[in-house]
Amino acid sequence: MPSNSIDSLLHEERRFPPPEEFTGSAVATGALYERAAEDRLAFWAEQARELHWDTPFTETLDWSNPPFARWFADGTLNVAYNCLDRHVIAGNGDRVAIHWEGEPGDSRTITYAQLTDEVKRAANVLTSLGIEAGDRVAIYMPMIPEATVAMLAVARIGAVHSVIFGGFSADSLRDRIDDAGAKLVITADGGWRKGAVLPLKPTVDSALAKSAKNTVTNVLVVKRGENEIEWTDTRDVWWHDTVHGASAEHEAQPFEAEQPLFILYTSGTTGKPKGILHTSGGYLTQASFTHRNVFDLKPETDVFWCTADVGWVTGHSYVVYGPLANGATQVMYEGVPDSPAPGRWWKIIEKYGVTILYAAPTAIRTFMKLGREIPQASDLSSLRLLGSVGEPINPEAWIWYRDIIGAGKTPIVDTWWQTETGAIMISALPGVTTLKPGSAQTPIPGISIDVLGEDGTRVDPPNGGLLVVSEPWPSMLRGIWGDPERFKETYWSKFAALEGSKYFAGDGAHVDTDGDIWLLGRVDDVMNISGHRLSTTEIESALVSHPIVAEAAVVGAADETTGQAVVAFVILRSKQAGKQTADEASTLLRTHVGQQIGAIAKPRQIFVVNELPKTRSGKIMRRLLQDVAEGRAIGDTTTLADTSVMQIISDKMKA
Ligand code: WT7
Repeated sequence: MPSNSIDSLLHEERRFPPPEEFTGSAVATGALYERAAEDRLAFWAEQARELHWDTPFTETLDWSNPPFARWFADGTLNVAYNCLDRHVIAGNGDRVAIHWEGEPGDSRTITYAQLTDEVKRAANVLTSLGIEAGDRVAIYMPMIPEATVAMLAVARIGAVHSVIFGGFSADSLRDRIDDAGAKLVITADGGWRKGAVLPLKPTVDSALAKSAKNTVTNVLVVKRGENEIEWTDTRDVWWHDTVHGASAEHEAQPFEAEQPLFILYTSGTTGKPKGILHTSGGYLTQASFTHRNVFDLKPETDVFWCTADVGWVTGHSYVVYGPLANGATQVMYEGVPDSPAPGRWWKIIEKYGVTILYAAPTAIRTFMKLGREIPQASDLSSLRLLGSVGEPINPEAWIWYRDIIGAGKTPIVDTWWQTETGAIMISALPGVTTLKPGSAQTPIPGISIDVLGEDGTRVDPPNGGLLVVSEPWPSMLRGIWGDPERFKETYWSKFAALEGSKYFAGDGAHVDTDGDIWLLGRVDDVMNISGHRLSTTEIESALVSHPIVAEAAVVGAADETTGQAVVAFVILRSKQAGKQTADEASTLLRTHVGQQIGAIAKPRQIFVVNELPKTRSGKIMRRLLQDVAEGRAIGDTTTLADTSVMQIISDKMKA
């Protein structure tokens, strides 16, 4: 159990009751908890009825074949219609859907009417390219409005999108395209990042050249970066040549609530990323419910900004589906926070009058280090609510976020959830909850969470245990693409002996005497770097795939800014001895990991060692390496096959 500094956390005594601006007028009131406690399924059915159903559902949940849930299964709806057409029909076509800001400083304002037209045109193009309901479409794009349009156009025709973050390498992209059997890739020539154009189409070209399955028939390319690209006439199609000229007449067809909506790959404890599958009605219900209630959304007046990339689940649920289902006005930003200068985010907030900001603790800690003068140079007085996601937010960063960004008065909602849960599961509600810095606090209405010991009994405070979701929820993953056994094994086997199916999240947690939940980090071989999930095993396989490496062990070491950082220990092949210095090897291998997986996976440090600490049965003891990487005294080494190895590694690191 990662104990971090839970003891000091639990002595955190600051409390922030809901401010007056929220108590009288917040979207969410305590009545939601009462209703959900009284009848959980009726509560979710009521939330689902906020959507437009072509055929109303009669059954809320079918849990007759756990862990395969079916929510609202006999109802039909169109996800894109819910995010677009119905707002236009309701008379809100002129409302701004997206204030888009390009990194170089260009910008676009897109209303709901315009977004609806563009999605209809794109849907017609997809159909003309032979895409049908159920087909998979890979999306590899920068943060430009066309990314949102592409996702919604795919959803509109009942196809399934798989968005791959633009920072992933050609190999990672190829693996995901092949695993899903994608027929089409939607990409851009390139996008702006850190003051330069990051090419994307060339990466798609090399991914497809290496594809083992060759399922892709077309590549649809948005012109953004204006970088030089190669063109395959028989395969590649420009977005502006097709979508701009296409008809904006497109009637959305209804699909079953359980129609697959998207696959999103995420790292697990093995080397192979898992394709997490989400479906339509339940997902949209919980994404929109949480977006409205956790963020206290007032669609007529709020300007919402979730800073996540659409390549991650946060971007799916709180850049695309939640905000658009709720008819929100939002900001979308293409680039990095410090381009051209570290104050960019705050300038954007001032420019668009952002009222709700949803960001990651890593970003907050980075700004904290740079100093308050930078945010204080912009007028942030429009902000009324702040959110945090992706990793635990330490009380110090929480207080800084509230004081410096939130003028010492905005509530902060710390939201716990996962790619697998699809939407927020644990969070304060701003008009109801008295906030405790550092704790994600309580399950949202309609969600059942438990913290269990290894033996499945509920742990009593102040002990820590394993976080489980003890009842099915609408936006739960429906499986792992193509691998139902892995789905059962990964999430549902840990507490299979208990009555009822318990979803094991992979996180450690602690419940305090008030019933508030404190997340303690992953208990498996999954790391959380800047709120992005990476697998130790996946990076180890990338390292050993390099010819100079004999063995590798990777750990996530505590890092002040990024939460955790990747630290690798490698043994070089004996033939390599003396051929390069440890520094050269380390540089070479960092680049290699970048090529194999993507820049986000590059280790912060790589140590060349002669031995790795192993048990007598040959299992690498990562916990000991983590001790060294975090500069702690080395823990219990009695199960090691060779107890001297840790001393040697630790001496080497100090040198
Ligand atoms: C893992 C899920 C949720 C979208 C972004 C990450 C960690 C997430 C919190 C939080 C503490 C958090 C957990 C979880 N996590 N939010 N508020 N407090 N930890 O999605 O890549 O699927 O990662 O992120 O460890 O299991 P993901």
